[in-house]
Amino acid sequence: MTPEVVSLLAAPGSGEPLQLVTEARDAFLLAPASGRRFPIRDGIPDFLDQADLSGPNGRYQRLYDRMAAFYDASTWLYALVKRTGEAARRREYLRRLDIRDDDRVLEVSVGTGANLPLLPRGPSYFGLDISPGMLRRCRRRARRKGLRVELFLGAAERLPFRTGIFDSVLHVGGINFFSDRRRAVAEMVRVAKPGSRIVIVDETEDFAARHEATPFAKAFYGNRPEGIGNPTEWLPPAMAEVVTDRVAGGDLYCMSFRTPR
Ligand SMILES: C[S@@+](CC[C@H](N)C(=O)[O-])C[C@H]1O[C@@H](n2cnc3c(N)ncnc32)[C@H](O)[C@@H]1O
Repeated sequence: MTPEVVSLLAAPGSGEPLQLVTEARDAFLLAPASGRRFPIRDGIPDFLDQADLSGPNGRYQRLYDRMAAFYDASTWLYALVKRTGEAARRREYLRRLDIRDDDRVLEVSVGTGANLPLLPRGPSYFGLDISPGMLRRCRRRARRKGLRVELFLGAAERLPFRTGIFDSVLHVGGINFFSDRRRAVAEMVRVAKPGSRIVIVDETEDFAARHEATPFAKAFYGNRPEGIGNPTEWLPPAMAEVVTDRVAGGDLYCMSFRTPR
């Protein structure tokens, strides 16, 4: 991890700056004022604590960890059944981002990194996810495809980044069932620079209701923690250029907006 990346990190919740410490063979991030330590495992800093896994987050972390090995095959197969092709399906919402070559871009819930190869190569990418299994797959994809991305284990509700450092923030596919959706959106807004674009995509309530009893899909949509409702209700006040529409043949909503300047 480069000193520049370390300078962009902050302890989740408290916002304390962090230092990289290497002791014998161990490396960790230290918040000097409080003494809190965040281990780095196989190159991925771990910012999760037990409280992040209370409520639905714990259920979905276990689910994604179990299915990490099949995730890419299942999304590819789904797009095939829908006769769209996965890349075309993803490009429909990725094109709402407004990314330039020297930007810093965060994907919250990066999963196996399936969006990354479809984005321009110039920017610096940061990806966070609550599932170690999905992040391992993401790292493998990045190595295979020669993509540069900094990965972090953590919860969307408590991002381990300084305020106002990202030019764009993307989230696809997890927020409907986060333990605290409003807090997660507030965190995306906090870490974005003023005037930057945030794009949030997930399944519509219609889609979730249609699949709550379907084999395999029912693990996600059955016994849902809360109705999905209208995602604009999760936005903090004063967001600009808010647009919400349906993409992927109506299966997904795509909400984009700008943080205030
Ligand atoms: C459907 S996958 C989407 C992955 C990727 N964004 C994509 O487009 O393929 C949803 C992801 O959300 C992650 N996730 C679920 N709850 C989370 C939370 N509270 N904080 C961060 N990530 C979370 C899961 O681990 C999973 O990787």
